[in-house]
Amino acid sequence: MKRIGIITSGGDAPGMNAAIRAAVRSAIFYEMEVYGIERGYEGLMDGDIKQMNVSSVSDILQRGGTILRTARSERFMGSEGQKRACDMLENFEIDSLVVIGGDGSLKGGLDLHKRGVTVMGVPCTIDNDLGYTDFTIGFDTAVNTVLNALSNIRDTSSSHERTTVIEVMGRRCGDIALYAGLTGGAEHIFIPEEEININALCRKVIQGRKRGKLHSIIVKAEGVGMGSQELADVIKERTGLETKIVVLGYIQRGGSPTARDRMLASRMAFKAIELIKDESSSKAIGVTGDKITHYDLEEALQMEREQDMSIMQLADILSI
Ligand code: F6P
Repeated sequence: MKRIGIITSGGDAPGMNAAIRAAVRSAIFYEMEVYGIERGYEGLMDGDIKQMNVSSVSDILQRGGTILRTARSERFMGSEGQKRACDMLENFEIDSLVVIGGDGSLKGGLDLHKRGVTVMGVPCTIDNDLGYTDFTIGFDTAVNTVLNALSNIRDTSSSHERTTVIEVMGRRCGDIALYAGLTGGAEHIFIPEEEININALCRKVIQGRKRGKLHSIIVKAEGVGMGSQELADVIKERTGLETKIVVLGYIQRGGSPTARDRMLASRMAFKAIELIKDESSSKAIGVTGDKITHYDLEEALQMEREQDMSIMQLADILSI
């Protein structure tokens, strides 16, 4: 009988629980024994591992966060930590691991793969910053959370005739800003992948006011070089308009996953288990169009992400 481990690691994302549920139930369907590893790689090194059954994942599909909890582990980065993690897996006779997390977590999985563990990476991060997959689990929910906030902020910005800078998450990847900015009708979007052009922004804000716009919404990813308050100060100075900032922060990481994220989580985690059943080597699971894909883990993590700048151009055209 196969024994598999399931671990969630790094920043949590809506849909992590849906992925745990799908992995546990698919594994049991294929007659595997399933172990849940708590607190990410930290818990793995500490041996915080317990067997899971069908009921362990009841009533979690709709919940944000992760029932296994998560951590960012410095200790696991060193070879001593990784050796300890492998020893723990051996003690529990776990031969394959499903890693649910973002870039850093999947890279941690690659380290374990290099030490002989079979690892299936399920991409789960609100950032959508992995090169080999169109989408990661959690991104769609985060975009919808930002969109709801943006709509509320638009109401009050309009009443007070203000300009508002909304800072969203995304250290290296501007996808949350781009998708929420386009779908929320933002006047301007700033992402880490593009140079900041304040002159163009101020021109647009002033033009908008001249044609009767009551407010301007600027969506800015956190990874953009200039701080949000500094940006707001410059806008105010150059346009003469009252400018406020809203930092959305961790509300983007919580909440009930959207149908789209639950679909992705269920399909990707099922694929991970199917691959383990078929004795596959380590893989990264992804989605291209509507098709669930899988790549060699190491190759997948080397794939560069290309930002689709046509979304930015479209947002710019539609917000004239
Ligand atoms: O990985 C997702 C992410 O939300 C980033 O966008 C953000 O910068 C980071 O995590 C913050 O994570 P934490 O504060 O939990 O370390």
